[in-house]
Amino acid sequence: MARDDMTEATVTEQAIPKVPTLPDAQTVTHVKHWTDRLFSFRCTRPASLRFRSGEFVMIGLMGDTGRPLLRAYSIASPSWDEELEFYSIKVQDGPLTSRLQHLAVGDEIILRPKPVGTLVHDALLPGKRIWFFATGTGFAPFASLLRDPQTYEDYDEVIITHTCREVGELAYGAELIDGIRKDELLNELIGADNLSKLRYYPTTTREESPRMGRITDRMRSGEVFTDLGVEPISPENDRAMVCGNLAFNLEIKELLEGYGLREGANSDPKEYVVEKAFVD
Ligand SMILES: Cc1cc2nc3c(=O)[nH]c(=O)nc-3n(C[C@H](O)[C@H](O)[C@H](O)COP(=O)(O)OP(=O)(O)OC[C@H]3O[C@@H](n4cnc5c(N)ncnc54)[C@H](O)[C@@H]3O)c2cc1C
Ligand SMILES: NC(=O)c1ccc[n+]([C@@H]2O[C@H](COP(=O)([O-])OP(=O)(O)OC[C@H]3O[C@@H](n4cnc5c(N)ncnc54)[C@H](OP(=O)(O)O)[C@@H]3O)[C@@H](O)[C@H]2O)c1
Repeated sequence: MARDDMTEATVTEQAIPKVPTLPDAQTVTHVKHWTDRLFSFRCTRPASLRFRSGEFVMIGLMGDTGRPLLRAYSIASPSWDEELEFYSIKVQDGPLTSRLQHLAVGDEIILRPKPVGTLVHDALLPGKRIWFFATGTGFAPFASLLRDPQTYEDYDEVIITHTCREVGELAYGAELIDGIRKDELLNELIGADNLSKLRYYPTTTREESPRMGRITDRMRSGEVFTDLGVEPISPENDRAMVCGNLAFNLEIKELLEGYGLREGANSDPKEYVVEKAFVD
């Protein structure tokens, strides 16, 4: 290359920034792959972003057309955290996650800072025990709520059930629960011994594990209540939040209504709330 050409190349590089800054850009600080279909990542949090644990935001990447490609994502980190955490599926031909799964530390994502959602404490009337029912990535909003001290201040007992096809798909949740039990501050609220007010109930449906079967079937048979040593769900004592696929949400809703619980909303708190983990 002639000397003049080299100079010209340098000038051009200076004129056009190498990495164009995205609108509402946040920087990825941590990435962990859990299975070939699941990963989690953390990113910087806009100083102005306030949210309630359990809410979701729109995140994404710049699309090929130059317009942002955005999807709804539950914030998996609690509202007090300095960073934001997300727990994500990898859909091989999915417009967003076929690319999002290749995120690396230092990359930028787009984050629209308008949190919304129904899986919030404000949408429930006071109760003694709260149930979080999740399938698959529906665990994400509960990863936030389980790390929020308010959850343990508001309830005597917190039960999280997580149903996945395979054992490996439980790992993110299992590690998170383990971390909460070892966390000094949260430990004071939940108790570190066998009398802990945090109960974890994982089940798998397509791979052998200590507890097999759909949570809905184990509720109908009463096994879940026997296993945990608790009374069946009642509107006087129990509150519930549900996040899974559409069929799961509908089945749980029917069960909860059968126990006498009514669906609440931000503007009209009642005994249970539901949100889709994804759109089928
Ligand atoms: C309120 C809300 C909150 C959400 N929170 C999360 C979250 O925290 N983590 C997350 O991974 N996704 C979440 N999603 C789904 C997310 O918005 C996208 O659908 C997902 O990131 C896939 O995007 P995509 O463009 O690759 O494929 P899409 O075109 O959006 O989806 C393609 C297909 O993949 C399947 N699929 C999509 N998402 C999932 C999933 N999470 N689990 C299993 N199958 C799925 C569905 O069959 C869907 O039709 C949420 C959706 C809603 C409505
Ligand atoms: N997980 C995988 O290994 C895998 C691999 C390739 C593609 N996919 C595709 O990805 C999509 C999402 O799969 P996913 O496994 O993440 O989520 P999913 O299909 O929502 O299943 C998650 C868990 O929820 C259970 N479940 C489903 N419907 C239920 C209901 N009505 N009541 C109670 N429990 C219910 C499932 O049990 P059951 O097993 O009994 O349905 C499974 O244990 C699907 O379209 C799937 O075909 C998944």
